[in-house]
Amino acid sequence: MIRIALASQTDIAGWREAARKLLLAGVIPARVEFNIGTETLFDEGDPIPPPGDRKPVISKELLGDIQTALLHSDPERFALGYRIVFRAQTQPKIHQNPADPDMHILRALAKSVRRDIHKMHAFVRFRKVGEEDGRESFVSWFEPEHHITEAVAKFFQNRFTGMNWLIVTPEASIAWDGKKLEVGPGGQKSDVPQEDAVESEWKTYYASIFNPARLKTKAMMAEMPAKYWKNLPEAALIPGLTREAEARMNAMIDNASPDGENAPAIAVKETQAPAHASGGFDGLKPLYEALRAANDWPREDFSDRLVPGEGPEDARMMFVGEQPGDQEDQAGRPFVGPAGQLLDRAFAAAQIDRGEAYVTNAVKRFKFVQRGKRRIHSKPSNDDIEYYRWWLEQERQVVEPQVIVALGATAVRALTGKTLTISRNRSQLIDYIGSSKLLITVHPSYLLRLPDGAGQKVEFEKLVRDLSLAKSALPA
Ligand code: URA
Repeated sequence: MIRIALASQTDIAGWREAARKLLLAGVIPARVEFNIGTETLFDEGDPIPPPGDRKPVISKELLGDIQTALLHSDPERFALGYRIVFRAQTQPKIHQNPADPDMHILRALAKSVRRDIHKMHAFVRFRKVGEEDGRESFVSWFEPEHHITEAVAKFFQNRFTGMNWLIVTPEASIAWDGKKLEVGPGGQKSDVPQEDAVESEWKTYYASIFNPARLKTKAMMAEMPAKYWKNLPEAALIPGLTREAEARMNAMIDNASPDGENAPAIAVKETQAPAHASGGFDGLKPLYEALRAANDWPREDFSDRLVPGEGPEDARMMFVGEQPGDQEDQAGRPFVGPAGQLLDRAFAAAQIDRGEAYVTNAVKRFKFVQRGKRRIHSKPSNDDIEYYRWWLEQERQVVEPQVIVALGATAVRALTGKTLTISRNRSQLIDYIGSSKLLITVHPSYLLRLPDGAGQKVEFEKLVRDLSLAKSALPA
């Protein structure tokens, strides 16, 4: 076996040199193995035989395709390349035969590499890191699928000649300082700054140019596969923008209507009073006494403890969550656990004083499944929600808030009797009972479940925006 040691994953010059010698010596592909770097140290294999007198011939076009395919991450690519150039010596038209299995694979590899290059051209985003001698310096992190980093360097040099830049990938880094293009070792995502002022401007710009009427999710996904999203600052906005697109489009249509009376309204489904209660409570205390005394509540999987709403009886804003969690159940107070802490931060950012607001839950007891020592949250059923719905309405009638914020789908169902899509109905002041307004937004625990920091940040900002909008509806 002849073992060819290539210097690196992108040692195409080394492959060409070896392939030329092998062809000259007429070595059949089955006798050749290609290895990268040190993999061959302990067994150097047979030497390449001396050259014959037939000069190898390879068309430029075929060589171009092979060189592109050699940037693929497939470990078999170097062997495939040699097999094809070897066969091309006796089948000069191999390149034009679409049915040839080797050519079929080669074309697929080259196509995938070209696509990766295109993605890198399009989706590298620079973050400003400073300025040196009047030249701004930018860095970017990108994770290509194939070994293309060096191959794209020229493109970025031509595109961003006027600035200093460094692009770091796991395998290699490339840099331009206005004079020379350099290739260096790879790095880690943590080497590259994640946030800066330029990025927030970029996000705002991206959100503003995002035209919902033109949004075609499928086409967008095809152009920007999800695996690239994580390194794009604007990608954190995309799920939200996508979800909002329809609502925004409807809003555009609504705004174009001639009468201008566009405040959406909601018809609330009637609730049924339980047989033992008649409503008309003249305070939260008697209301909760009656609720505690009721013994027809759904018990299966529920804690016995009732967690009442909290806040002034004359609060102008009312916030409705889903149900108490483990910590709320233990404390006997709503929103004191992780979701509550996040909500508190959002309140602070929206300048809402929690002490002046009324905070409650659609379902007043904790539903859970026991796993060892842990009590795991279990979603309330529609029947559970229905049971407490009448009580929630009594609560609303006592407090008489001017603005009600539904945090998540359970709250929406409890307040309207309907299953409404949050994404389609959020972020609007909806005409609710009497002269009150209802604003639908996400539940804070939705943010806690989001995997990455950037997405959480954007969603947090949207939640704060929603809370600020709700607050703005309060009469001065
Ligand atoms: N989630 C809720 O919906 N309510 C709470 O009180 C706590 C977490």
